[in-house]
Amino acid sequence: MFVTFEGIDASGKSTQVKFLEEYLIKKNIKVLVVREPGGTKLSEEIRTILLAKENFNMVKECEILLFSASRAQLVREVIIPKLREGFIIISDRFHDSTTVYQGIGRDIDLEIVYQIHKLAISDCKPDLTFFVDITFEESIRRKLQSNLLPDRIESLGKEFFDKVRNGYFQIAKLEPARFKVIDGMRSPEMIHQEIVRIFEEYFIKYKGDL
Ligand code: ADP
Ligand code: TYD
Repeated sequence: MFVTFEGIDASGKSTQVKFLEEYLIKKNIKVLVVREPGGTKLSEEIRTILLAKENFNMVKECEILLFSASRAQLVREVIIPKLREGFIIISDRFHDSTTVYQGIGRDIDLEIVYQIHKLAISDCKPDLTFFVDITFEESIRRKLQSNLLPDRIESLGKEFFDKVRNGYFQIAKLEPARFKVIDGMRSPEMIHQEIVRIFEEYFIKYKGDL
C-alpha cells in the first residue's frame, strides 16, 4: 500500500508522517518512509539543485523535469521493489506536489503535466493521500516560529501559495476516494487520530485486518 502526504510548506506533513510511521511500527507492519524530492542518492542530488537559492534563474520547464526525474528514479529504485516486498510506503510529497506547484502554481498546461507523470510514475499512483491543509498565514507563522530559512520554492509569496492550496482542493474534487482533505489547523494529536481512522478504514476494506 502506498500512502502520500501533501500540503503547503510547514503544514505539518513531516510531523504526521512520523506519527503514522510510529503507529505502524507499533502494529508490527513493515513500513518505509521516503521524502520528495529525494529518497535515493541520485534523487537527493537532484533535490540539492532544485532547492538551492543560487539557482534562482531556473525556468519552470527545467524545474518540472527535475522534480519528475527525481521521482522516476525513486519509484523504480525504491517504491516498486519495496511495495512488492509487502512494505507500506509513506512518501512526504509525491506527484500531486508537481501538479499543484508546477502545473497550477507556475501555469504549466495540466495535460502536459499528466503526460510527464505518466512517464515518471507510470501506474505507481498512491492508494491514499492526506492533504494536510493550513492557511498561508499559518505557514508563515510556523516558519517564523521555528526560524526556518525558506528554500528557493518556499520564498514564493502568498499569491503562489493560494494557487497551490486551491490546486489541492481541485484534486480533492476530482479524486475524493484517494485524496483526503485534513484540517491541519488542529493539534498534531487530533490530526493524527483522524489520519489513523481513515487509514484503518482503507486498510481493512482493501487489505484485510490490521
Ligand atoms: P512540513 O513537513 O509540512 O513542512 P512540519 O511537520 O515540519 O511541516 O511542521 C512545520 C512546523 O510546524 C514545525 O515547527 C512543527 O513543529 C510545527 N507543527 C507541525 N504540526 C503542527 C500543528 N498541528 N500545529 C501547530 N504546529 C505544528
Ligand atoms: P521541502 O523542504 O521538502 O518542503 P516541505 O518541508 O514543505 O515538504 O521542500 C520541497 C519544496 O519543493 C517545497 O517548497 C515544495 C516543492 N516541490 C515542488 O515544487 N514540486 C514537487 O513536485 C515537489 C515534490 C516539491
